[in-house]
Amino acid sequence: AASAMLARSGAALAVPPVSRLPGRAKPLPLSAVRLLPSDYATAVEVNRGYLMRLVPDRLLHNFRLYAGLKPKGEVYGGWESDTIAGHTLGHYLSALALMHAQTGDAEACERANYIVDELALAQDKRGTGYVGALQRKRKDGTVVDGEEIFTEIIKGDIRSGGFDLNGAWSPLYTVHKLFAGLLDVQALCGNDKAMKVAIALGGYFERVFAALDEDQMQEVLACEYGGLNESFAEMYARTRDKRWLRIAERIYDHKVLDPLVAREDKLANFHANTQVPKLIGLARLHELTGKEFQRVAPRYFWETVTRHHSYVIGGNADREYFSAPDTIAEHITEQTCEHCNTYNMLKLTEHLFGWNPDGALFDYYERAHLNHVMAAQNPRTAGFSYMTPLMTGSAREYSQPGEDAFWCCVGTGMESHAKHGEAIFWEGDGMLFVNLYIPAEASWKARGAELTLDTNYPFEPETRLTFDRLAKPGRFPVALRIPGWAGSAATVAVNGKPFAVTPDRGYAVVERQWKQGDTVAIVTPLDLRIEATPGDAKTIAVMRGPMVLAGDLGTKESDFEGTDPAMVGTDLLAGFAPLAADRGIYSAKGVIRPGDLKFVPFYSQYDRRSAVYFKRFTEPEWKQEEAAFLAAQARAKDIAARSVDVMHLGEMQPERDHELTSEISYPVTYRGRNGRDARSGGFFEFDMKVQPGPLILQATYWGGERSRDFDILVDDVKVATQHLEEDEPGEFVDVEYRLPEALTEGKDRVRVKFIPHAKSSAGPVFGVRIFT
Ligand code: AHR
Ligand code: ZN
Repeated sequence: AASAMLARSGAALAVPPVSRLPGRAKPLPLSAVRLLPSDYATAVEVNRGYLMRLVPDRLLHNFRLYAGLKPKGEVYGGWESDTIAGHTLGHYLSALALMHAQTGDAEACERANYIVDELALAQDKRGTGYVGALQRKRKDGTVVDGEEIFTEIIKGDIRSGGFDLNGAWSPLYTVHKLFAGLLDVQALCGNDKAMKVAIALGGYFERVFAALDEDQMQEVLACEYGGLNESFAEMYARTRDKRWLRIAERIYDHKVLDPLVAREDKLANFHANTQVPKLIGLARLHELTGKEFQRVAPRYFWETVTRHHSYVIGGNADREYFSAPDTIAEHITEQTCEHCNTYNMLKLTEHLFGWNPDGALFDYYERAHLNHVMAAQNPRTAGFSYMTPLMTGSAREYSQPGEDAFWCCVGTGMESHAKHGEAIFWEGDGMLFVNLYIPAEASWKARGAELTLDTNYPFEPETRLTFDRLAKPGRFPVALRIPGWAGSAATVAVNGKPFAVTPDRGYAVVERQWKQGDTVAIVTPLDLRIEATPGDAKTIAVMRGPMVLAGDLGTKESDFEGTDPAMVGTDLLAGFAPLAADRGIYSAKGVIRPGDLKFVPFYSQYDRRSAVYFKRFTEPEWKQEEAAFLAAQARAKDIAARSVDVMHLGEMQPERDHELTSEISYPVTYRGRNGRDARSGGFFEFDMKVQPGPLILQATYWGGERSRDFDILVDDVKVATQHLEEDEPGEFVDVEYRLPEALTEGKDRVRVKFIPHAKSSAGPVFGVRIFT
């Protein structure tokens, strides 16, 4: 009732001439914020259980082993048994420290402190400053301590590809995670020993980098290095020792960052999550040095990614890679929106807000936090998803916490869900900001205040802030974020009475004499609206306030019979009616083809299949399009349904999953598609799943290729010699090879190999599929 009253009587909002927002802001410390019951608080509790079930001694296994100490726990599987081992421990340290700050849980810091003691022991035992669990696969297949990579690099022996540095998977990316964990434990658990370990580790890498000239440095940085620049910047911030600043500034990948400094979007076909942390590091450097280029690139990157490369849930990238700007509609696949990318984009957003408070930054933050991050943990199982697929009907796959479920997004997931209170409240120049409407209590030291933020947003429109205690009453401004979509429909009331405010860069600033017991409330009407994808007005999604709604397609593919629904009509929202508005549930009647649908909040569709994006048509358009649309869909579905295995060449995760090995071979990108080639003398080979019965192997080439000759082998038997000679200029071509049944009989996988003839190359090949 209160909301209805406010909505009716609230004063209209107009634009103020000069902004009263401060030039800088910082979040209230996480330890000063406690979550009240909501899905966010549940996520933290579920994650706390998960963190406590992990065994520190098992995560420490390789750290001790390779330092020459007897491990105290069995090694975990997944990434913890790969060359990237140790990656989880860094995230785990961060997650424990954040969890302690967010909930006050003492055991979280006790665990973190124990791990730091163990790391210090392992570091002392090695005596070089290095501490780590990285492994390295030698040419003969033996797996050894990863420190060997760095001793080679110091000598100038650098072999670097996108994700490989001297035989290990993105080792500096993992080193960054460890630094970040140690720095978080110092900051949030007050453990100075963690800083000592970090400084000794920093000293080790100082020696590694000092041995490299600029070209060698760039070569090393061609392999994913996470946010290593941020770690050194942070060490400088805490110690004021210029050594760390110099290293932080040297960790600068010219190839990716120079165009961003020049405000050029060359992101297409770059691996997304490799880049975001580089910009976070640069943003941190800007805060410490004030250098302009360190401001421009992160800001430009943020604008470009959020406006031209992001899906409606705030995530980005298809199969981990950026595509051309404004081509989201062509990339709505089962591999959209890796969680790590959004975890990093939110960090970047916080930096940008810190230098220049602006509500638009939090419009993005809120979108991505609610619709992507909250979708990426299953509160029932505590599992984390890697991708959040936006292709109609695809299922989310969550990790199954246990022995082997360790990969990148498990690491970022355990952090994301330890800190949902991190960005709600901010302060700057005496102003209190409320940026996210998440139920919480907070202490605001500057005013000796205890605050409660009470809301059922985004399910109900009103959020109320109460000063339960205000030791230092007086005149000061409180800035409540007016979400971009709410605009002039938002209203504000102080102690229940309408308060006229003029929006200021996305905020309703309420400046008055505050005293204990005062309340200020904002009402943001939660109307439905249609949002188009960047670059394609005909591909749309449905929003309610900040929340993405999705058609509920059930739990199994058979529930929706593989159909891809479309929306038809001119006033699409007229077909929507609330079923349970307080839970964000609507029915859509008459505007969906093939039939009516129930719409529900997307993020909570953990175990269900959703329809987020729809092609929109007017009635006459639909009549024309229907036949062609359905036929094209049926063709694509048919191929997908008959597929036994698909290999996306030139892309990191699929190449690892299919155990690709190669020589004189390299990834390529052409017309937005990734592929792989090998020069004569080289090859590439990989595993593909097979099943009983006749099978076809299909390979995709570029139709404009000339004079290419190569062989295709399956389990060492030649199945084809392919010659490419401008077969279909300007297009990709799929060539099919029937596999002799004898080759696949009784097997569940085969090894497919491409070998170029002398003086030729092996394609390139833009993907291989096996289907029935
Ligand atoms: O290579 C390490 C991480 O693994 C990448 O950053 C992520 O995109 C991938 O899945
Ligand atoms: Zn990831």
